[in-house]
Amino acid sequence: MDSSDIEEKVASHYTRGDVTDRILTTLDLQDVARGSVPIEALFPVDQLHHGGVSLTERMASAAGIKSGMKVLDAGSGIGGSARFLVDRFDCEVDAIDLSDEFVRTAEDLDRLVGLSSRISHRAGSVLDLPYDSNSFDAVWSQNVTMNVADKTAMFAEAFRVMQPNGVYVLTHIGRGAGGEIDYPLPWAMTEATSFTVPPSELVHALSEAGFQNIKDHAKGAPPPPPASDGQPDDSLAMGDDMPQRRANSGRAVADGRLVPMLVTARRF
Ligand SMILES: C[S@@+](CC[C@H](N)C(=O)[O-])C[C@H]1O[C@@H](n2cnc3c(N)ncnc32)[C@H](O)[C@@H]1O
Repeated sequence: MDSSDIEEKVASHYTRGDVTDRILTTLDLQDVARGSVPIEALFPVDQLHHGGVSLTERMASAAGIKSGMKVLDAGSGIGGSARFLVDRFDCEVDAIDLSDEFVRTAEDLDRLVGLSSRISHRAGSVLDLPYDSNSFDAVWSQNVTMNVADKTAMFAEAFRVMQPNGVYVLTHIGRGAGGEIDYPLPWAMTEATSFTVPPSELVHALSEAGFQNIKDHAKGAPPPPPASDGQPDDSLAMGDDMPQRRANSGRAVADGRLVPMLVTARRF
């Protein structure tokens, strides 16, 4: 499969057709005034990664995100991290994602919390970023690399759009030792669209793209907390079978077949 075939399958994996409605109905927000909802009300449903908002906080801290930074969220899902970066750090955020539906939902949720004018969303690929070179202080990719086969191309694009002295921050679920992993997983139903690589391979691809000072902040750190099944959660955006998909990845993380990573890398 070439990259465009992979992207077509990945976009369809992240398309439900009714994500905004499901979120507004489940959280009982259908009739509230636009702009009146705090971003915290969306945390249970808009963080499409292991570890919920506490992982987002850890990423921001590891990257040294500061007030007013210009950030690109590359693989932005329904915009949970983008809203967090604007609300907490007053960042200026551009966000791009393959899934047209996720982009529309992100814009709907931005309106709900009154952040529409602060985040610019577009549909597109992290392999061909529609932004000028040297544009961002930071590039952020949270649980996106597992859907991207050509990591060197993805990282080269992140490097290009980032200013010198910029930081790239990403989370990846790497392959560990100890046998096959069970599908379905949160990011892929089969291995056809799952591109988890060992930590050393991810670091090598970053270095090939020109990044330096590459650090894995998750190494030796306590694992992020599990999602609490039964609460409103990322199933609304990701699919009703998420409890099974989360359980498969949780078991593989527990026995070391999968290895969560939180990586920062610098462009000098
Ligand atoms: C597991 S979700 C994570 C979303 C978001 N980063 C978060 O943590 O809430 C993975 C996201 O990566 C996006 N994605 C995967 N491959 C991509 C690509 N080649 N270009 C742009 N987005 C991509 C998917 O559409 C999906 O929204």
